[in-house]
Amino acid sequence: MKLHHVGIATTDLDSAQARYELLGYRLEALELLPDQGVRAAMLKSGADRIELLEPTAPQTPVGRFLEKRGPGVHHLAFATTDIAAALRRLQASGARLVDEEPRPGFGGHLVAFVHPSWAGGVLVELVEAEP
Ligand code: CO
Repeated sequence: MKLHHVGIATTDLDSAQARYELLGYRLEALELLPDQGVRAAMLKSGADRIELLEPTAPQTPVGRFLEKRGPGVHHLAFATTDIAAALRRLQASGARLVDEEPRPGFGGHLVAFVHPSWAGGVLVELVEAEP
């Protein structure tokens, strides 16, 4: 697997986006994901992507993350061409999954999250995408 993007929680997506644009990143897509309670911007520079996440309300996963830990790195996402197989492999190894089944995420990709306790405190996202 390869790193697909770094997810960053922010209280101000527009201002965070302007800063990454100064680093050479450009907006690839901006989406409102109501079921996850976030406004998300995918920024791209070459093959690298950064996903900015701004909660739509305090009582959402990213809203609670910001309240507890403040703005900053929220998750690492890894690309896999077969997310169901990757999930089964992790589950068989004893990993604690947030999502037992893949669900639609940003850009229509199937995604699934693995609990931070599995990766030393880092929330891991699997994304079904071409490497
Ligand atoms: Co993500």
